[in-house]
Amino acid sequence: MNLPKIASISKKIVVALAGLFLALFLLVHMGINLCLVRPDDGQWFLAASDFMGSNYVVKVFEIVLFAAVFVHIMLNIILYIQNRKARPVRYKRQSKTKTSSTSRLMMLSGILIFLFLILHFFNFFFVKLGWSDGKYMVNVEKVNECLATSALNGEEEAVMAKFADFERGVDVKSHLSKDGKWIYNLTSEEAEPLRGVVKVKADFYHVAADLFTQPLYSIIYLLIFIVLGIHLTHAIPSAFQTLGLNHNKYNGFIKWFTWGYVAVIVLGFSAIPVYFLFFF
Ligand code: HEM
Repeated sequence: MNLPKIASISKKIVVALAGLFLALFLLVHMGINLCLVRPDDGQWFLAASDFMGSNYVVKVFEIVLFAAVFVHIMLNIILYIQNRKARPVRYKRQSKTKTSSTSRLMMLSGILIFLFLILHFFNFFFVKLGWSDGKYMVNVEKVNECLATSALNGEEEAVMAKFADFERGVDVKSHLSKDGKWIYNLTSEEAEPLRGVVKVKADFYHVAADLFTQPLYSIIYLLIFIVLGIHLTHAIPSAFQTLGLNHNKYNGFIKWFTWGYVAVIVLGFSAIPVYFLFFF
């Protein structure tokens, strides 16, 4: 019995399952993010991200997601190194077989997506954790409750009152969401005195608006969506093959499913920077 071979097949199955899970996450992530392009001043998007941020099922899903990203990357690196080591002779003029150039393309696109994820986390996810700077929001109802009940110090009360008293000034009004639910678009300096008194949340709507109205960021994101498309075009059929679903009967379906899926993901994500760049 060839044990290393069995181990490598099971690694491939785990890679495939984690990869398909990540592809599914992309569809959900894109669906929620598409609310950004609705010209409603972020109401749908903020409602969706508020629900996602306060739902325990979503929190568990996030842990599974990070585990899947980690496992997918680590096992792919291990398999890539094992495959290279398993090649008995290094040819002088390397014959560029289809398999080796595809695996190199997958490795390269995977690295680019990983580098993008680091940037993406600084842009969005780390804002939520307070590790990078962004825009913030607080719930109007909670602010009013605080003003009515708790013992605030002078500075906290001044800031709270400023944002809670919507009658007083144009600037304050520009911080009130259309549905009157959020005081949003706050800089970190404006949000700082509110911390510890009410829950300060990341305002991803204004984070996205600030980011994608800068052409450089929009171009970086659009380019990475193409790289993601290339990665998925090879990854989805390969995952089905690893899982033994590449029967002649299904191959045509898998091909069209893959192209359809990739088109939805690439065009759907691309609509977001395009909207902020040209129509916001
Ligand atoms: C225009 C496109 C995109 C926008 C506007 C966007 C927006 C966001 C936002 C707002 C968050 C924070 C969500 C939260 O923590 O509550 C986030 C997190 C995340 N994004 Fe994106 N994203 C985009 C594209 C992508 C792409 C292409 C990938 C994968 C290649 C990706 C992967 C992730 C991951 C893994 C997280 C952390 C998990 C999570 O919090 O859901 N995103 N993104």
